[in-house]
Amino acid sequence: MSLILWIIIGYLLGAIPFGMVIARALGLGDLRQIGSGNIGATNVLRTGNKPAALATLLLDSGKGAIAVLLARWLAGPEAAMLAGAAAFLGHLYPVWLGFKGGKGVATFLGTVIALDWRLGLAACAVWLVTALIGRISSLSALVAAAVTPVLGLWLDGPRMGAVTGFMVVLIYIRHRANIRRIMSGTEPKIGKKG
Ligand code: G3P
Repeated sequence: MSLILWIIIGYLLGAIPFGMVIARALGLGDLRQIGSGNIGATNVLRTGNKPAALATLLLDSGKGAIAVLLARWLAGPEAAMLAGAAAFLGHLYPVWLGFKGGKGVATFLGTVIALDWRLGLAACAVWLVTALIGRISSLSALVAAAVTPVLGLWLDGPRMGAVTGFMVVLIYIRHRANIRRIMSGTEPKIGKKG
């Protein structure tokens, strides 16, 4: 199968807005009208429904991981990287939501875990430790994201550094409002409405 096809498959998987689907199915409302307006697990948690937030986290990360694993299994490592990056782009720019998607953190982590589990686990560990200290989801995401390309470069070489670096740039762009709130001390703690 050609690489273009894997990019399309990855994109379509990534474009499934699981947070929106779960929130709607459970009658939690339209996530775009709640909290930060984001469609990710952090914002689902603001509805107060922890299982829904956990399911969103697992499915949003799982879609990135599945894109990578499927592509690697059927077409090799190059297709795996492209499919993972495409899944991430699908989450950020989903065709189903008029290309207005999420911030990509869960899909990024799932993709990276599947690309190299050591790198993925390291990124998750950084997220967890910073979340335990600061209790701010976006801050943890930004710290974990910043570390990943550097570690990826060291563990796997320039291609991993470049692919993860590309995703991290987009994560930072998507977190502009969060960064402003972090700087002004108004970013809500995990689970708090804001
Ligand atoms: O994973 C998204 C997180 O980093 C920020 O989400 O809803 O607080 O903007 P939110």
